[in-house]
Amino acid sequence: MNTVTPALGLSATEVESVLEAASRAPSVHNSQPWRFRILDHQIELHADLDRRLPATDPENRELRLSCGAALLNLRLALQGHGIRPLVTLLPSGHQVGGDWAGPLAVVRYGGHAHPSRELTQLLHAVRTRRTNRRPFIDAPVPTAHRTQLVRAAESERGWLHILSDSQHQATLRELIARAHHEQMANPDFTAELATWTGREDNHHDGVPLSAGGPQPEPQDEWVLRDFTAGRGHTRVPGKDFEPHPLLVILCAFHEGPLAELQAGQALQHTLLTTTTLGLSASFLSQPIEVPHIRAELRRALKITLNPQAILRLGFGSPVPATPRRPVTDLLMPSPTPTTTQRHSEHPPQRRS
Ligand SMILES: Cc1cc2nc3c(=O)[nH]c(=O)nc-3n(C[C@H](O)[C@H](O)[C@H](O)COP(=O)(O)O)c2cc1C
Repeated sequence: MNTVTPALGLSATEVESVLEAASRAPSVHNSQPWRFRILDHQIELHADLDRRLPATDPENRELRLSCGAALLNLRLALQGHGIRPLVTLLPSGHQVGGDWAGPLAVVRYGGHAHPSRELTQLLHAVRTRRTNRRPFIDAPVPTAHRTQLVRAAESERGWLHILSDSQHQATLRELIARAHHEQMANPDFTAELATWTGREDNHHDGVPLSAGGPQPEPQDEWVLRDFTAGRGHTRVPGKDFEPHPLLVILCAFHEGPLAELQAGQALQHTLLTTTTLGLSASFLSQPIEVPHIRAELRRALKITLNPQAILRLGFGSPVPATPRRPVTDLLMPSPTPTTTQRHSEHPPQRRS
């Protein structure tokens, strides 16, 4: 079995807590498609291609978004230990059949930095953030909160497009419904959904029934996926979804793997900020996952950037956490000493 080893001047226990925080990131169907290689002077983040979802995410775009989200958590956790992370995205490697062979990111020691108050709040949110598929309270999200969310995305070179135009909201509603029906007509897609969702509580991955939210109902304005394998609890009468959720589209300025890794970090910074503000979030990914509807979405909503994720935000009630794999399952085998790469700054003496 692989064991966690010391790195960047942190003890094995501290490295384990950093990786545990990274793995708290959201991922499509809670597939947790990431792996880590620990070297004395760097931590590498790799995609776990055995966990890809070919029918839902044929280009691995959402896989890279998920890995980007894990990278943001990893950066925050290192900062929590007083380490300024020096991150290189896609440092080496090459394309193999459309996939990136090599690390998605390498994180090195970039000096000491005292964690700020804002950072400590975000780090706390790593543990408390959850995808909330239940109805939210029908109360508007204050303008000051919206501004903070836009800033959070911007701080990671992302852009948060807030959908305030009611005509645009109606268009999005229609595109979600169309994309959803197209996906549900694809047996490979529904097989993937059935495999990963509506699970009993004895798994380390996938979406458990307890986190799946209510079963969708025909009167729902927004078509949500059924994450309960048809076994979700029926809704209390009158507890319908809020008619006016805050809808935002997280966009990248560029296309391709690097932009997607950045977008994943922007997504996670936005979601963690949502949590610190006492807001809840869920995803409406259908129109971005279906390529021709994604193109239509850009045209209809006049979005010149590259949409990566659609979020529904609002004030929700607490929901249970989804499970995570043990950290030892996330480790790649230790490399031979010759593969150790050069590093720019030496970490301090390792703590035992
Ligand atoms: C790129 C991406 C797309 C997602 N799309 C959806 C979606 O369309 N519907 C949904 O309910 N959840 C979606 N999710 C949320 C995941 O199912 C969720 O992150 C995962 O089950 C782990 O649960 P947690 O976020 O509560 O930790 C998405 C997550 C990511 C990262």
